[in-house]
Amino acid sequence: MNYKLSQSNYRHSVVGADTKIPLKNGQYGAAINFDNAASTPPFVSVMEDINNFSSMYSSIHRGTGYKSTLSSQIFEEARSIVKEFVNADPDHDTVIFVKNTTEAINKLSYRLWNGNKKSVILTTWMEHHSNDLPWRNKFQVDYVETDPKGKLSLENLEYKLKSHKGNVKLVTVTGASNVTGYVNPIHKIAELAHRYHAKILVDGAQLVPHNAINMKPKNPLEHIDYLAFSGHKMYAPFGIGVLIGPLETFKQGISEFVGGGTAEIVTHDWVVWEKPPHNEEAGSPNVMGVVALVAAIKTLTALGMRNIDHHENQLTNYANLKLKSIPGITLYAHTALGEPRIGVIPFNIQGFAHEQVAQILSNEAGIAVRTGCFCTQPYIQQLLSISPKQMELYKNKGVGPRPGVVRLSFGLYNDFSEINALIHILERIVKHPRI
Ligand code: ALA
Repeated sequence: MNYKLSQSNYRHSVVGADTKIPLKNGQYGAAINFDNAASTPPFVSVMEDINNFSSMYSSIHRGTGYKSTLSSQIFEEARSIVKEFVNADPDHDTVIFVKNTTEAINKLSYRLWNGNKKSVILTTWMEHHSNDLPWRNKFQVDYVETDPKGKLSLENLEYKLKSHKGNVKLVTVTGASNVTGYVNPIHKIAELAHRYHAKILVDGAQLVPHNAINMKPKNPLEHIDYLAFSGHKMYAPFGIGVLIGPLETFKQGISEFVGGGTAEIVTHDWVVWEKPPHNEEAGSPNVMGVVALVAAIKTLTALGMRNIDHHENQLTNYANLKLKSIPGITLYAHTALGEPRIGVIPFNIQGFAHEQVAQILSNEAGIAVRTGCFCTQPYIQQLLSISPKQMELYKNKGVGPRPGVVRLSFGLYNDFSEINALIHILERIVKHPRI
């Protein structure tokens, strides 16, 4: 396969891609960021729009001045821009602005809960804790299994949907794994869920920055009911996230947070709540976050989600190929060429703790990665074949090393020369373990 080893065409679209940082040897080197699954740097356009807008910034909704009116208009119009980006239903869906994906999923868990633990939520073995823990104290939670490579089993999903006999309220699944980068077939999952009268939530934190999302494809069975994602993973790190879902879901009941902005009339005895989405956005809204998100959406759209996906796939294939040639490296994600995957690569090096590898990469080569379990512990335990008994021993007696892997995760601005720098240092680690 031919790889164009030039710089990414998108390199100048983010802030700080070529920043120099101090290395252990006292010299300065390029900061290489392979931790984009955690957070991406901001787009230049995001910083510019924040800056340009700041002279017009003012409190929104109830302010009467020119700046307030303009800020309110920008904030409200952003909902349509978000809907268009993921092809949500313009009339029947609502966009609720939250802090991040975690808050979005917690919010939905409260909204779907009717006070008892009778209905079932089907989540999966490959979920981030944020798409597992919020469901546990409100529903019966069951987990769709993954195969030995860590890929979601659609057979097991159908088996579970059947065996719960129509009692599954929601199938909630990650769009792409933050550990293996596997992309789930969300439309097939939606079709299965709907056939058994369940709804579907896609945790889009890892998918939305890398692949185009279509919440409403032609076949209604394939529609995505709910979608959650975060600005800070899509080049807009200003504390903004999104929950999208049918207006109907948010019309009944009371939001888990109430207060300023959520009520229309309040007396000492009763309350008339605002309509969605405002009843769900307690407190002063994050206007700057929304400005940043809109700028990021416009830039991603202008660059083209297909182009971004193509570039990141090239990086991932190239890195995988190179990593496979280094003795002692175990890779934990396996996809055939062309199989959908985002640029996330988990690995370990024989004889080295994951933390140690990360430390060397940072100290010696200025390469930032992330190690451990990335808030996805049960999935990592499965990938590393760590038994429940071993986890008990680890918890109670501290027996065994902290489970985990080293994770590379690429963004659109990463390039092949950065991967070469990584491979170079990894080869040195393997050849000279006392580096
Ligand atoms: N959950 C984020 C990650 O995967 C922080 O790194």
